[in-house]
Amino acid sequence: MRMYDIIYKKRMGKPLTKEEIDFFIDGYCKGTIPDYQASALLMAICINSMTREETLCLTEAMLNSGDRVDLSAIDGVCADKHSTGGVGDKTTLIVAPIVASLGINVAKMSGRGLGFTGGTVDKLESIKGYRATLSTDEFLNTVKSIGICVTGQSGNLTPADKKLYALRDVTATVDSIPLIASSIMSKKLASGADTIVLDVKTGNGAFMKSLEDSCTLAEAMVDIGKGFNKNIRALVTDMSSPLGYFVGNSLEVYEAVSVLKGKSHSDLYELCIELSASIASSSLSLPYERSREMCIENVKNGKAYSKMEEWISAQGGDISYLQSPEKLLSSPIKVEYISKMSGYVSEIHAESVGIASMLLGAGRRTKEDKIDLYAGIELRVKKGDRVNIGDTLAILYTSDENAITPCKNTLDASFEFSESRTEPSELIYSIIK
Ligand code: URA
Repeated sequence: MRMYDIIYKKRMGKPLTKEEIDFFIDGYCKGTIPDYQASALLMAICINSMTREETLCLTEAMLNSGDRVDLSAIDGVCADKHSTGGVGDKTTLIVAPIVASLGINVAKMSGRGLGFTGGTVDKLESIKGYRATLSTDEFLNTVKSIGICVTGQSGNLTPADKKLYALRDVTATVDSIPLIASSIMSKKLASGADTIVLDVKTGNGAFMKSLEDSCTLAEAMVDIGKGFNKNIRALVTDMSSPLGYFVGNSLEVYEAVSVLKGKSHSDLYELCIELSASIASSSLSLPYERSREMCIENVKNGKAYSKMEEWISAQGGDISYLQSPEKLLSSPIKVEYISKMSGYVSEIHAESVGIASMLLGAGRRTKEDKIDLYAGIELRVKKGDRVNIGDTLAILYTSDENAITPCKNTLDASFEFSESRTEPSELIYSIIK
C-alpha cells in the first residue's frame, strides 16, 4: 500500500477502505508517513469529506492508537459530557455534581483551554489545592468512593489525534465535520463512559458558527457513538451570547457554586438542568421529565452542592472557596464598565466578550501562555434587559492595569441596544439521539 495512492484516491473523491485508513493512522503515528503526506490527505478530506463508514473507521483507528481508560472496576453506570466550548461555559462544574448526586458515576478527563478562558481543569485549579493530575489508581479509587473525579487528560489516550490535531491546526484543516467528529469521539470513547451527552454549541462564540453545521456535527458524533454501542445524545445549544453572567476561570467557579446553592436561575441553570436530565434519563432509563424533576430536586435540597464539596475535597481542594465563594472574586483590580447608551440590550456578542476577557488575562492565545486564573468579566445585564446611560454593564477583574482600556474598547463593540425589547435567543435548538 502506498500513501501516494491513498491521497490520490481521496483527492478524486472516492471513499477509503478500513485498511487504507488504518495504514494512514498507523504509519503517521510511527513516523513512517511524513507530515507533508498527512497534510495532503487531510486537505483532500476537508474538500471531499468522508462517508459514515470512513468516519467510523477513522475514529476506530485513532481510538486504537493508544490506551483506553478501563472503568470496568466501577459499579454502576459511568457518564461523560462534552462541550464543544464557548464563552462562559462552566456547565461541567455544575452538571457533574448534579448527576453524581443521583448515583451516576462521573469519571471525567477534561482539557486545558486554548482560547477565551481556560478549560475545566484550569477553572478547577483556581480553587487552592485542587489536584488535576492523579495516577490512574487515584482516579479510579476517587470515582469508586465518591462517584466523581475530574482530572486533566493523562496517559497515552488517542496519540494519533494529538499528532493530527497539531497538524490540522497549522494547515487550515480543522473545520471538517468528519475530522472534528472523529477527533472528539475517539477521545470520548477512549475515556470509557457508557453514557455520553454532547453539548454542541452554535453561534458567534462557538467554533461552529452556523446552526446547520452544528447540527450536522452533532449528528455525525451521535452516529459514531451509536456505532460503538454507546448511550449517546447531543444537544445543540446557543452560543451567540455568553452563558450565564461570569466569564473567566475563578469567576466561573463562583457562578457554578451559586447555581448549585440555588442562588442563580439564569440560562446557565436551565441548560445545566437539561444536560443533567439528559444524562440521568439515558443512564437510569427513566422518563426525561422524571429525570429533570430529580435534578431540580437535588439542587434545591443541597445534595448536588454537597457532592461538589465532597468532590473538591477528595481532590485536595480547599472547600472554604466553596463555602465563602467571594474568595474567588479577589482579583486586585476591579473596574466598572458603564453604559453609554439607553435602551434594551439587543445583543451581547459572545465572541467579543470572550476576546475582552482574554485581554484581561483569562485566556491563552498559545499553549505556552500563562493565564490569570482570577481575571475575567462579570456581566451585570443579559439580552433583553433595559439599561440607562451610566448603568453598570459589567465588572472587569484583572491584575493588569494596561489591559483595561483595550478590554473596554472591545466591549464597546460587544453590546448592541434597541428601542424595543428583543427576546433572548433560544437556549436549545435541537436534541439529537
Ligand atoms: N475539538 C477537538 O477535540 N477536535 C477537533 O477536531 C475540534 C475541536
